[in-house]
This record gives sequence, structure tokens and C-alpha cells, in this order.
Amino acid sequence: MQTSGDTSRHDLTARPWHIVGAGRIGALAAFYLQRAGAQTIGVRPGSAHTRRLSIGFDQHEDGAGSHLALRVIPPSECASVSRLIVACKTPYTDAALARVSLTDDATVVRLQNGMGSLDGRITGHQRMIGAVTASAVMSETHDRLRVVAENATIFGGGERPAWFDALAAHWPQLSWARDIRPPQWRKLVVNAALNPLTAIHDVPNGALLERADLYADMTALIDEADTVLARLDPAWPADSHADVAAVVRATAANTSSMRADIQAGAITEIDAINGWLLRQAETLDLDLPTHRRVVAQIRQLEST
Ligand SMILES: NC(=O)c1ccc[n+]([C@@H]2O[C@H](COP(=O)([O-])OP(=O)(O)OC[C@H]3O[C@@H](n4cnc5c(N)ncnc54)[C@H](OP(=O)(O)O)[C@@H]3O)[C@@H](O)[C@H]2O)c1
Repeated sequence: MQTSGDTSRHDLTARPWHIVGAGRIGALAAFYLQRAGAQTIGVRPGSAHTRRLSIGFDQHEDGAGSHLALRVIPPSECASVSRLIVACKTPYTDAALARVSLTDDATVVRLQNGMGSLDGRITGHQRMIGAVTASAVMSETHDRLRVVAENATIFGGGERPAWFDALAAHWPQLSWARDIRPPQWRKLVVNAALNPLTAIHDVPNGALLERADLYADMTALIDEADTVLARLDPAWPADSHADVAAVVRATAANTSSMRADIQAGAITEIDAINGWLLRQAETLDLDLPTHRRVVAQIRQLEST
């Protein structure tokens, strides 16, 4: 007799999972998928190859690491894709998906920070699953990743798919939320308050609680974000200060991803974070002067 575990495993492994953006977080997703028995394929322009990575886990008591071998093919070699994880940085989403053709019943998991990067791409019977992760992965070298925090990850949006339990059995702290929007918005406010200020002032996260000028800007960014979100959904609690302060304290010595991008001369994810809030505000006829200012400052830094 088939159990629900068998059904879930079958649904997870029946079709390959393509991963667009198998960088740090995408490689970790590929690692958990492989551990659950799924076939994984990276998608990246260029020639087909196998990417071999070692992955170290800071929180594993025995310090044990693991290995990942991921076959990577160019979009032109992808047959129709029915299971897709999107884990590239948000500014590259359009380019990364340009030649990827999805089946009519495809499931797409958006494993990215920010909001809106896949808007208008999922149609008809295709399904979009949102994801929010508190895990953190760094590159040590080209072929070595370090998982500095293996924390909660939430997938969600509607009914839990059959494959979910089989994956959750191998992905630590993975849970399902029928309504993924509240965790997405909580993460959005944290990112919108923390990322641009640490990047503009080139400071570690903890400086936002230590310097009066940064604290004032952070407070304004949180209040403005809460105002927009409460207008979009009156059920939004609009009290994100404690959430943001907790993350800033817990990551006080860390460099935010936006600060790292600016230091590396890379394009940031500002457009999907504060830019998304500004676009929502515009439709509501609201002004967000602090978000407007930090977006302009980040764009200036990106162009120098
Ligand atoms: N890293 C974390 O700890 C973490 C934690 C939470 C959330 N996130 C979110 O996860 C997302 C990915 O972040 P990440 O840190 O994993 O970024 P990442 O390490 O830079 O990985 C992104 C990957 O996308 C690939 N890529 C870029 N352009 C592409 C294209 N046109 N087609 C196919 N692939 C392309 C890059 O390939 P190349 O290297 O070859 O350019 C890279 O492997 C972001 O939204 C980030 O905010 C990350």
C-alpha cells in the first residue's frame, strides 16, 4: 500500500528541479533537494559543465562538511521546465529567465529577497511559491561555500504541494505557510531598513543602533514601510521596530548583502526592496521621503 510519504517522495523526484541562480543560497537548495532524492539541474548561460562545491556548516557540531555536484546547462538546452527554483539576485531575474521555457503547469519557487521580481511571469495554471529564509551562506572560495546560519526557511502560498513533506524531511527547519505574505513583508521591512543604510555608510549592521543619525533614519524607514503595508493590508500590525532591532542586534558584526554588493561594485537588490515599497506608495499616492532618498543614494553609489 502506498503511504503519503511514498506519494510525497514520488512527487518530489518524478521531475527534475531546475535552478536558475545556483550561487550561494541556490546551491544550498540544490544540496537539500539532492539529499531528498530529487534530480537537480543548474541553468546558466555558457557551456554545459558540472559544478563541484564543498559546503561547510558552521552549526554542525562535528564540523562536518558536504559536497555538491551540480550539472549546469545553458537555457537553450533546457527542455520545458516544470519545477524551477529562482535564486539569482533580483536584478538579474529577467536576463536569467529570458530563454527558460516553463510548462503550462510549472511550479516556480522564488527563493530571493525583496518583492515583485517575478510579477507578470507566472500565468494560467502555473504556480508560484514564495520563500523566505533566515539561513545565510557565504562564498569562501570559488568552490567552497560556508553556511554560517542554517535557520528557518518558509515556503508558502496556498495549499501545501504533495512534494513538500519529502523535501522538508531533508531541509532543516523548512515549514509551509498558507499565507506567505506576512513573513515576506516582515523580511522586506528588515531588509529595507537595514540594507541601504549599512551600504551607504559602509558600516556593519550594529551601527544602526549605535549611531543616533543612523538610528533616526532606520526608524523613519520602518515607519514609512509600515505605513504603506498597512494601507495595502489593514491587517498588517505596522509595528516592525522590535523585529528590525532584533535582527540588527543578532547580526551586529555582520556586513549586509547590500553593503557587500556596493563594496564589490555590483548592482544591489534595492529595486526589489525599497524600490518595491516606493512603487506601492505611488499607487496609493503616498510619499516615502526617506526611502526615496536612500534609493537615490544607492543608485548613485552603484553608478560610481
Ligand atoms: N546568500 C545568502 O545567505 C542569502 C540569504 C537569504 C536570502 N538570499 C537571497 O537569495 C538570492 C540569491 O542570493 P545569493 O547570495 O545566493 O547570490 P549569489 O551567490 O550571487 O548567487 C546568484 C547566482 O545567480 C547566478 N546568475 C547571475 N546572472 C545569471 C543569469 N543571467 N542566468 C543564470 N544565473 C545567473 C550567478 O552566477 P555567476 O556567479 O556565474 O554570475 C550566481 O551563481 C538573493 O535574492 C538574496 O537576497 C541570500
